[in-house]
Amino acid sequence: MKIHLIAAARPNFMKIAPLYHALKKEAWADPVIVHTGQHYDINMSDAFFKDLELPEPHIHLGIGSGSHAEQTGNVMIAYEKVLLREMPALVVVVGDVNSTIACTITASKIVYPALPDRPTPIRSNINRPIVAHLEAGLRSNDRTMPEEINRIVTDALADILWTPSTDAVENLLTEGVSREKIKNVGNIMIDSLEMMRGKIERAGAFRELGLTKGNYGLITLHRPSNVDSPASLSTLCRMLIGASQETPLVFPIHPRTRKNLDTFGLMDTLRDAERIILTEPMNYIRFMNLVFNCKYVITDSGGIQEETTYLGIPCLTMRPNTERPVTVDQGTNQLCTMENLQRRIERITSGTVKPYSVPDLWDGHTAGRIVESIRTIRLG
Ligand code: UD1
Repeated sequence: MKIHLIAAARPNFMKIAPLYHALKKEAWADPVIVHTGQHYDINMSDAFFKDLELPEPHIHLGIGSGSHAEQTGNVMIAYEKVLLREMPALVVVVGDVNSTIACTITASKIVYPALPDRPTPIRSNINRPIVAHLEAGLRSNDRTMPEEINRIVTDALADILWTPSTDAVENLLTEGVSREKIKNVGNIMIDSLEMMRGKIERAGAFRELGLTKGNYGLITLHRPSNVDSPASLSTLCRMLIGASQETPLVFPIHPRTRKNLDTFGLMDTLRDAERIILTEPMNYIRFMNLVFNCKYVITDSGGIQEETTYLGIPCLTMRPNTERPVTVDQGTNQLCTMENLQRRIERITSGTVKPYSVPDLWDGHTAGRIVESIRTIRLG
């Protein structure tokens, strides 16, 4: 069974890695990694493949950056050609980036040519691949986020919806998705974390930066709503400089954020802050070593909200909403505004920590449940 695993941007790689490794162990499965090229810098892509012990992508579309329409359209055009040539039985898309929606639309509408030697389709009534969405059902209910549009369209089209948590199941049912399409498999990123735990714990990233365990804050910011306007980015820089007086901070800077810090003339202000360490984006193992050992995280990433909940690390999310409410209701996450961020940091540094528990099925065994789900499709 030829299975395409679509990898595109940094947060996708830790979602496909455990599934690739699990499928590789199955004699019936032929997992093929398709990299769209949405992220292309070494430290945004290759470094993750290396850390997660993935082979070079089997197929690379080389799309690169662009506007939403350009990026989505270019992936669709390139992936259509690949689908017609390769004719996989199953396409697995993950997360909510532009390549996720692009490959979902393309695979859902493709019609494979009727060739005499073509393998029997997996379902006799469709002459195209089955499309499965891993991390289905998440909703921020904020359609100003490009990712929310990507989630809604992907879930509307996909044939199989693998959800990370029960709130995601509820969202899909509310939208009228039939229950038999949904399988709650848990959080695949925890599989990557557990798979790499030994290497993460042995990595010395925080020590190499001169930091001590439990005594620094970790910053990641890249959402357009935070970093694309000079007003919000300069306010955030001011807040970080203030927070660093109390606890040193380390800030691996995403390419989008770096570009804007340069454009808005804010880079020197940050460089001058003595207790903020600025770094390039980090590979998975070194970055997770920083997460494991920090006092708190300030972020606008989706995945980090989940990783911190799993690890019990306080997480301050600079967003008005989250598609991962379980991390707030049950986990360590708090949604913050510019107005209340400082107070929240002070509470954490003075020792007040939110009680938390780990959501169901965030247990490091999600890839195994997905393999079982694929086995059922194959036999069905
Ligand atoms: C994308 C995803 C976002 C995800 C984020 C993780 C969409 C709509 N957004 O946002 O959901 O949280 O990835 O990082 O799909 N760039 C580089 N090198 C790279 C990649 C990007 O320099 O390897 C720069 C380019 O200037 C590019 C900009 O970063 O224009 C933004 O990249 P893009 O992939 O469009 O969006 P992200 O902000 O990375």
